[in-house]
Amino acid sequence: MNTLTMAMPKGRIFKEAVLLLRKAGYNLPDQFEDSRKLIIDVPNEKLRFILAKPMDVPTYVEHGVADVGVAGKDVLLEEKRDVHEVLDLKISACHMAVAGLPGYQRGELNPKVATKYPNLASQYFKEQGEQVEIIKLNGSIELAPIMNLAKRIVDIVSTGQTLKDNGLVELERMESITSRFIVNAASYRIKSGEIKTMINCLKVALGEDA
Ligand code: PRP
Repeated sequence: MNTLTMAMPKGRIFKEAVLLLRKAGYNLPDQFEDSRKLIIDVPNEKLRFILAKPMDVPTYVEHGVADVGVAGKDVLLEEKRDVHEVLDLKISACHMAVAGLPGYQRGELNPKVATKYPNLASQYFKEQGEQVEIIKLNGSIELAPIMNLAKRIVDIVSTGQTLKDNGLVELERMESITSRFIVNAASYRIKSGEIKTMINCLKVALGEDA
């Protein structure tokens, strides 16, 4: 049996993904979630985990450095990497939204929109027929409308608490987001047995027919 390398997103998705893998029958060490290591080998399960920034997971999988990975649909839509998206893991559910200060009205010329998702946001506003200037930020996007860097933002909304705590409101709901299981094309052929077994175990854990 080949060892599978799995790219995992560091941060909030990681814990839910580890829970799901355990439910799928993978015996992962107790202190797994608390480690600061970026590469974790689990020889008993023939698994190697690499812990990447969420936005970088599809890059590792596209280049075949990782055979499989867990990536948010938001990241897949933004990055458009050449990977197979094979399973909706239904974890880390949230949605994309346009948000801003209450009472925002469209009407300014070429308004600014701040976001961590410049491609996704550009495509959305193009489809809406609104010309905007996208300002790329790397986090704490909710600061932008408060500081008047941009009147609106495009970001993920989970509980809505961050918007609320910063006096912002959701203006337009965009797509629903969950985490997906992604696979490198060559690995899918070379390690098909191991990968299909993992997909089936995950499907059983999700209550789907394997
Ligand atoms: C994300 C997102 C929002 C927040 C939404 O940020 O960008 O800021 O979570 O969650 P909520 O609706 O439950 O409040 P994250 O914590 O990942 O950090 P970031 O600001 O660095 O992007």
